Amino acid sequence: SASVNLVFRKGILMATSNRWVSRFVRRYGMRLGAGRFVAGETFDEAVPVLRRLNEQGLRTNTTLLGEGVRDETMARGVADTYCDVLDRIAAEGLQTNIALKLTHLGLDLGEDIAYENVKRVVAHAATVGNFIRIDMEESARVDATLAIYRRLRADGFDNVGTVLQAMLYRTARDLEDLLPLKPNLRLVKGAYLESADVAYQKKSEVDRNYLYLAERMLDECSFTAIATHDERIIAHVIDYTKRHGIGSDRFEFQMLYGIRPQLQRDLVRQGYRVLVATPYGSEWYFYLMRRLAERPANLLFVLRGLAR
Ligand code: FDA
Repeated sequence: SASVNLVFRKGILMATSNRWVSRFVRRYGMRLGAGRFVAGETFDEAVPVLRRLNEQGLRTNTTLLGEGVRDETMARGVADTYCDVLDRIAAEGLQTNIALKLTHLGLDLGEDIAYENVKRVVAHAATVGNFIRIDMEESARVDATLAIYRRLRADGFDNVGTVLQAMLYRTARDLEDLLPLKPNLRLVKGAYLESADVAYQKKSEVDRNYLYLAERMLDECSFTAIATHDERIIAHVIDYTKRHGIGSDRFEFQMLYGIRPQLQRDLVRQGYRVLVATPYGSEWYFYLMRRLAERPANLLFVLRGLAR
């Protein structure tokens, strides 16, 4: 039921910061099935995965997993890696863009550090005709993330977009403020543990806000990414875009690697643009824990791996 899932979700997200849980999962996670959600520990391992998805008609984005970097040299190194990955994507002829997290690029060290790093990646992406999506992290990071997005747009970069979360009360206001920029936005429900002071707690409320925001975005944004595995939302969006004559070049569906692959292919067959977010890297711990929190069955999947 909805309330059992809510308790489960909060429990997993709270356990994520527990030292013992972290040690155990980091040690056994790959063996236990993290590989279902992660394309490999290196970009070399991810390339054939991305190619296979492209061959099935699916667009992809990739992410070097990691977040909360507090060392300036390391944060700069992440930006260097993304520039190399952009060159590799071009050389391999992949239909793949990049989604990144600003705390991976040093946001916790200061807004200007993250801005300089992401600007370098966005500028490099522009030279190879690629696109950068800035993921949205915890509610405490929303102001800085949107500020950096605005600075990049003010610099004249159009090959950049960001993400809004339907679970936050503030998002409807944030969206209206962004619309004059004709932004390229991804809409998600929100994957972080947030309090009732800032976020809807009930799934029904998050879903209702999601539908409202999706319609506003589809009407007004230059491009909208509907990122969800929720079939009721997907059906609603299909119906809405048909009724309002919103062309399939103005939006796409996005899902995560390893989640609902059949639904991904079904939508491609129906003529929709579908992108599969396909991360790689050895820092998969937080990513895996958010995926486990989303669905009790995923924890069972991992625990079954333990029994093998
Ligand atoms: P919901 O959780 O209601 O699930 C609907 C149905 O989808 C479930 O009944 C199940 O069938 C299936 N499903 C959902 N999650 C599953 C899982 N983990 N395993 C198996 N089945 C599952 N969040 C964020 O805060 N910032 C961000 O930048 C992003 N970026 C992002 C990109 C993309 C491409 C996606 C798809 C998602 C994100 N998210 C995110 C995560 C997002 O906020 C949300 O946590 C997940 O998408 C799960 O929510 P759903 O919309 O799928 O709905």
